[in-house]
Amino acid sequence: MLKKPWDGRFTEKTDPTVESFTSSIAFDKRLYLYDIEGSIAHCRMLAKQSIITEEEASQIIEGLNKIARDIERGNFELDESLEDVHMNVEARLTAEVGKVAQKLHTARSRNDQVVLDVRMYMRDEMANILTRITGLCQVLVGLAKKHIDVVMPGYTHLQPAQPVLFSHHLMAYYEMFERDRDRFKEALKRINVMPLGSAALAGTTYPIDVEYTAELLEFPEISANSMDAVSSRDFIIEFLAGASICMVHMSRLSEELILWSSAEFGFVEIPDAFATGSSIMPQKKNPDVPELIRGKAGRVFGSLMALLTLMKGLPLSYNRDMQEDKEPLFDTVDTLKGCLEMYEKLLPSLKVNQAAMEKATSKGFLNATDMADYLVTKGMAFRDAHRCVGEVVRYAMDQNKKLQELSLSDLKKFSQAFEDDVFEILTLEQMVDRRVSAGGTAKENVAKAISEAEKALKLEAVENESYARKKKTPK
Ligand code: ARG
Repeated sequence: MLKKPWDGRFTEKTDPTVESFTSSIAFDKRLYLYDIEGSIAHCRMLAKQSIITEEEASQIIEGLNKIARDIERGNFELDESLEDVHMNVEARLTAEVGKVAQKLHTARSRNDQVVLDVRMYMRDEMANILTRITGLCQVLVGLAKKHIDVVMPGYTHLQPAQPVLFSHHLMAYYEMFERDRDRFKEALKRINVMPLGSAALAGTTYPIDVEYTAELLEFPEISANSMDAVSSRDFIIEFLAGASICMVHMSRLSEELILWSSAEFGFVEIPDAFATGSSIMPQKKNPDVPELIRGKAGRVFGSLMALLTLMKGLPLSYNRDMQEDKEPLFDTVDTLKGCLEMYEKLLPSLKVNQAAMEKATSKGFLNATDMADYLVTKGMAFRDAHRCVGEVVRYAMDQNKKLQELSLSDLKKFSQAFEDDVFEILTLEQMVDRRVSAGGTAKENVAKAISEAEKALKLEAVENESYARKKKTPK
């Protein structure tokens, strides 16, 4: 067992159960490359400032690069008794390069080190997530373009309300995911801040050059207050909040796909490759992927709650409680990326049943609003028109007829304002195409929204490249 770096003032050995209880190595090992890259930059800075010699720095850097290679090849057994990834790397460095390794931690604490590692990890993952959201948006827009002629019932209260283009419905999700992407871009600004130099909490007495460290690690900003730097996790909470909202959007899409693929709706069919069967009922095809995405929203919300609760009562500055930030963060990154990937793959092969959607529009008097609007054009006040058409609907229900199947003389019993031209506006096509108000479902609007989205997504794909940092894999 390797010696603990902090055991100078201790006379008793740590209880083994305490070692495993306090250890975070099982999960923070995910940060090892960032830990090493951060240490290399810190070490370069120490040498540049003559806090250590160039010779010492190159020995340390060589050792760190070797450790990175060893970990990658699985040649590094992590030691639980060394608590975390930072101490594991440092202990191994001592084993590799000897006493000089002890100089690496000059002007640094694990408190600023851990927050640096998490920030570096998150900005890489943010780049991945931004790319995945763009991918999902591309797929949604592609599907909307392909099915631009499909009309379906739009619902409120899950009751048929007014007809809409299926593409309009899809483009609503495009808008939601674009806002999610904006939120992550905003969050990235606050993630991309370099905390080294804050040390344990108060800063350091050494003549360090944090601008140089930040430049090496490609951070555009440096933390302004050492206590804030080591004790704040709102950059994680903000990400988890954005992730939770994005999961709400994916969960609502899931709910719709689950409903729409039911026998009762029959609007879509989930591709076989993304569905599963039942072990007992041979006829079943279950929408497990959307269901699981809907379910996974819960664990992401849980992570957000966990972090809010974790932080709310902590006095400044660092407290060990904060080690509990990592599992919810890592789990959320994995969950979010997994769900985005699933939808990016599933949606292009979604089978859309145009006939079933259009058939559904014939039920539920979807053209009642249009009939009321017609009466308004003939001079009636909208409230009166609403009441009048309500009575017409009641009558049609009793006759077991649709509004367009009533005769003009039937209609005239309710209002003399009805003329022959009323039947023109009651068709499905007219109901959709006349809704040209901003953001409405008219085909010309939706087609325009699709072509604008296509242009925006091309720019986004280029922008995503700029977020992807060229990983400095150790030589
Ligand atoms: N494993 C710790 C964490 O994740 C690293 C920082 C430990 N600092 C300390 N003073 N014990 O928060």
